[in-house]
Parts: sequence; structure tokens; C-alpha cells
Amino acid sequence: MSGDCDFGLIGLAVMGENLALNVESRGYKVAVYNRTTSKVDELIEGRAKGKNFVGTHTLEDFVAAVARPRKLMMLVKAGPAVDAIIDSLIPLCDEGDIIIDGGNTYYVDTERRTKLVEEAGLLYVGAGVSGGEEGALKGPSLMPGGTEAAWPHIKDMFQSIAAKVGPNNDIPCCEWVGPRGAGHYVKMVHNGIEYGDMQLICEAYQLLHELGGLSNEELYDVFAKWNEGVLQSYLIEITRDIFSAKDDQGGDGFLVDQILDVAGAKGTGKWMSQLALDLGVPSTLVTTAVFARGLSAQKEARTRASKKLNGPTDSNNPEMSALAKSLVGDKAAFVQAVHDALYASKIVSYAQGFVQLQAASAEHDWGLDYGQSALLWRGGCIIRAQFLDRIKEAFDEQPNLENLLLYPYFEEAVENAQSGWRAVVSAASLLGIPVPAFSAALNYFDGYRLERLPANLLQAQRDYFGAHTYQRVDREGTFHSEWLDLRKQP
Ligand code: 6PG
Repeated sequence: MSGDCDFGLIGLAVMGENLALNVESRGYKVAVYNRTTSKVDELIEGRAKGKNFVGTHTLEDFVAAVARPRKLMMLVKAGPAVDAIIDSLIPLCDEGDIIIDGGNTYYVDTERRTKLVEEAGLLYVGAGVSGGEEGALKGPSLMPGGTEAAWPHIKDMFQSIAAKVGPNNDIPCCEWVGPRGAGHYVKMVHNGIEYGDMQLICEAYQLLHELGGLSNEELYDVFAKWNEGVLQSYLIEITRDIFSAKDDQGGDGFLVDQILDVAGAKGTGKWMSQLALDLGVPSTLVTTAVFARGLSAQKEARTRASKKLNGPTDSNNPEMSALAKSLVGDKAAFVQAVHDALYASKIVSYAQGFVQLQAASAEHDWGLDYGQSALLWRGGCIIRAQFLDRIKEAFDEQPNLENLLLYPYFEEAVENAQSGWRAVVSAASLLGIPVPAFSAALNYFDGYRLERLPANLLQAQRDYFGAHTYQRVDREGTFHSEWLDLRKQP
């Protein structure tokens, strides 16, 4: 039996409820189900009242309410709950029905589930969904991958609910990403880049606040100005707004100053870091950002250490300290240098993210389109930024571009930002302010642009103690030396 709903949504937490309302608002009839059925009734009696919804209390009724081929989307916590729902849905569905997972799922699970669902005669889609509550309601960025045959069935609906960009606001931030877990991988890299962006912004904040002495009002003005230039992005915009928010819980100062400096994380940044290590690609920005959250979480240990460990003092090195202070002394110049450090580091972060996507695509044979990924992130999602237009342009012009840093626009941008970037990292280091992401980015840049690194010595060490062999610069082949015989005899 099948009903006349165009779409079914399972999981009425914040994202699910808002996405269901978004779908309905584009002219579709929507069936909804939630394990705690009171959530269904609340929605039907509340925000969905008078709208084209069918509320259901069992998965049987839910599946029966949707027209074939059914489009059934889950927006539930990633992990075992997704497997449990798939297992329950398969016997209730008919051949050709489509099961969609819109959660932040680990891509390996999506690879496995695509196979499982396809073997049952159904189609499977693992779709990255980004944009938070507002995005889900008004237009998220959608990154669907999985069984490609599902795409023609869901394309119109997905593109109608997605965020739109472009001069006429008609280019949807939703395209088919690739087979199996490709959509969820792209979403994970989006989140890893989000971790990097957020960490970089936090380092800029600490520098401006601690070294530059900027008040929250001044920080608001700086971020407002930055949001009108090359750094324009959703994250810069909300950071600007955060500096204007007053304490809503009884205090009379700014809310940001009352928030405990302990960062949480749900795991997507960690996954991207782990997978970078597996692939052997140096995605140092996301890794640094994950570790920075980890260090922030060690609040008690930091509090103890803060009473014992001293940083630089003027007497350690008066000349360097004076140099660093002179950089910070000119406020406008310092703000510009921090801007440049942030911009250059951000370019490095995106360059690393795309290198990881390229490596993953090659390993899994996903055939990812990198310009398209940039377009998917152009609107709706958390990392949305004008800057992504340049990245799309870069990959459209050079689909095999091996690193964004080599695209003339970014090459020039980093060139122009370089002196401010170096000055900020040096001053922070001399004055004892941690800038792990700014310096990781700079170290990547300096390592990447050097033809010769000290790995020759490293290979010599490996060969010395473990006969791990090495290659030579002047001829082909694999070599081993008897270092004990070659060394200067003690
Ligand atoms: C999005 C976000 C979202 C994620 C947050 C929080 O694209 O809408 O990425 O998926 O829940 O980024 O992630 P953390 O808790 O790990 O910071």
C-alpha cells in the first residue's frame, strides 16, 4: 500500500523538523515519523498546523503514507540508530524505494549501507546537510552521494529546498557528489574546514584582544569591516554579532566574556584528521584545530600549569620583546597584519582540504568534481563565503590543479599577505600567545614551497639504525650504507 505523500522524514529533532517544513513549503506533501511519537503530534499541532503534512506513529504507517518510489529520509543521530532504522525500513519498502541518510555519518558506514540497501533492491543516498537550524528551514547546502539511480528521483526536490547562489540567486547548492560514501566524505571535509576556520578566527580574536587590547565594541567594528572584504563569510559575520551580544543571564557585561573556554566537538574534525593520516596527506589545519579544542578541554590542568609555567618576560630578551611590541603598538597596522595572517592561513586550510579530497577521491574512485564542491559550499552551509567563488573558478579553469596555492589568484593573495602573516606569528611567539593554526599554516606554506627539506637526514637516520634504505639525488635505485663503517671513528 502506498499513500500520496511525496516525501517522508524520520527524526524530528531540530534539523529534521526544519527540513520537513522546508520541503513542505516548496509544494510537497510530507509524512513524518519520530520514535518518541509525542514529537510528531507536537509538530502536527504546532508549526505544521494547516500545512500539507501527515503525522504517523509507526514506521509501517509512515512507509505506507508515501507514494512510490518512496523517498524516505532519516535525520537522526549518526551511528547504530541509522542501522536500526534501515533494518526496519527494508522489509516495509518496495523495490526502487530510496532511503536517505542526512546525518553527519562516517563515510565508511555509508559505503557499507549503500551496498546493503542496494542488495535489498532499494536505492541509498548518504547526503551531507549543512547549515544548522536556519539552513535546514530556509535552504541548506546538500551533498548527496550513493546510488546514482536515486538522483533523478530526488534532484528536483533537493535542489528546490537547497540554498541558492549566483547573480540571479538561482544556482542550487546541491548536486550529485559521487558514489557510495562520497557525499558524506565531502560533508566531513566541510566540517574539518569549518574547524580550521573557527580556530583561525579564535586566534585572531586572542591576538586582537590580548595583544592589541581591543574591546568587544572594537572587535565588532573590526569583524564588520572584515566581513566586507576578502574574508566575507558566515563565520566572520556571526563572530561580529557575538561581540555585540550582552549577557542574557543576569550579568551586565558581554556574553562572550562569561563563556567557559572549554570547546566541545562531535567528531567530524577528528575523522578528517584520522583519515588524513591514513591517506598520508598533511591536513595540518584541521588536525591543529582538533588538538586546540582538546587542549582547551584540559581546563583544570591548564589552570594548575598557569600558576607554575612562565612565558617570555622582557628580561628574557629585551630586544625581541621590544620588536614584537613595536608591531603591536600601531593598532591599525596590527589589525591589518592579523587580517592578513587569517586570510593567508585560510587559503592554506582550504588548499589542504582539497588536497585531501583529491587523495580520497583517487583512493575510492569517486570521481569528485572539486569546483562543484566549492559551489555546494558557496551558500547555505557553515563555511559559506565569497571566497569559494574563487576556488570554483580555480578548479573550473584547471580541473587537475594540484594545490590551490598554485592558482594565480591565491598565489598573489598569499604573496601580499605574507609579511603581515609572518610578523603576527613571530610577535605572538615572542610574546607568548599561542597561534597553533596560524603557525601550522605558515609552516605548511614554507615546507610546501621548498624544493629540498631535511628529510635527507631523516632517511640517513632510518637507514643507519634500521637498514630502511634510501634513494639518491644523482641516480636511480635503492641504497643502503654501512654507517658504522663510514662514520668518523670515536
Ligand atoms: C553544519 C555543521 C554541523 C555540526 C556542527 C557542530 O554543517 O551544519 O557542521 O553539521 O553539527 O559543526 O560540530 P562540532 O560539534 O563537532 O563542532
